[in-house]
Amino acid sequence: MKHLDDLSQLSAATAAWRAAGLHVGFVPTMGALHAGHLSLVGAARAACDRVVVSVFLNPTQFGPNEDLDAYPSDLARDRALLEEAGVDALFTTSPSAMYPDGFATWVEVEGLTDRLCGASREGHFRGVTTVVTKLLNLVGPCRAFFGEKDRQQLVVLQRMVADLNLPVEAVGCPIVREPDGLALSSRNAYLDPAERTRALALSQGLRDAQQAFAGGETSGPALEAAVRARLEAAAAELDYVELVDPGNLARLAVAVPGAVLAVAAKVGSTRLIDNHALGQPWR
Ligand code: PAF
Repeated sequence: MKHLDDLSQLSAATAAWRAAGLHVGFVPTMGALHAGHLSLVGAARAACDRVVVSVFLNPTQFGPNEDLDAYPSDLARDRALLEEAGVDALFTTSPSAMYPDGFATWVEVEGLTDRLCGASREGHFRGVTTVVTKLLNLVGPCRAFFGEKDRQQLVVLQRMVADLNLPVEAVGCPIVREPDGLALSSRNAYLDPAERTRALALSQGLRDAQQAFAGGETSGPALEAAVRARLEAAAAELDYVELVDPGNLARLAVAVPGAVLAVAAKVGSTRLIDNHALGQPWR
């Protein structure tokens, strides 16, 4: 695996692959890798000839009171995992290389970013869409892979790719869960054992709603209430639970197969998100 830490080296390496007719796949990450990230690498390997992974803790997607400074990081471990997963190139860089003095250009997707996580994380999606645009320009992949756990991020990025005619497909990959249902997230590392147990309320609530839907319940408020009940029992602090259209994230009053139930809540000081597309198999 090549380890590239220079923007022009990265562009040159991927340009050479494209010139040789190879399809480049890209998995952007912020590091602290887990099996969810590795599933994205697996999907990229299956679909592309060469796979690039970036590990860049992007400061512009964190608000002033968020966890940028505490975010877990272990580059040596990430590097070993990526090597073992058969990645062709790892790209790392610094905030000053990505955002040099005078940086003044931002990519913003309107509307979709105001709701759900966007309502409580002002500026978050602007940071995501800007850094992903820059990384896509540097890597030039034909496909980029994103986890469905960050469902809103995926929808926003797919909108951005379509609106800006970016020559890449933003591919969504299924959520990877612990055996007890907790969705994998780098932020799970913040949870102490008691919080780890309480954090199950998110996935348990979604499962309850999934079962209610399978039993014929289609009322959005009733399905949302099923999730809320689990969160209340676990004393988790609800940010939102909403039944939404998977294409445009508009709130739905009535569930249809594929409608997404999305939840965000704090357990202790850790903010967690999860979602499930109703009627789809639980993984
Ligand atoms: O999902 C993430 O880890 C980040 O938001 C991303 C896409 C790597 C951009 O920094």
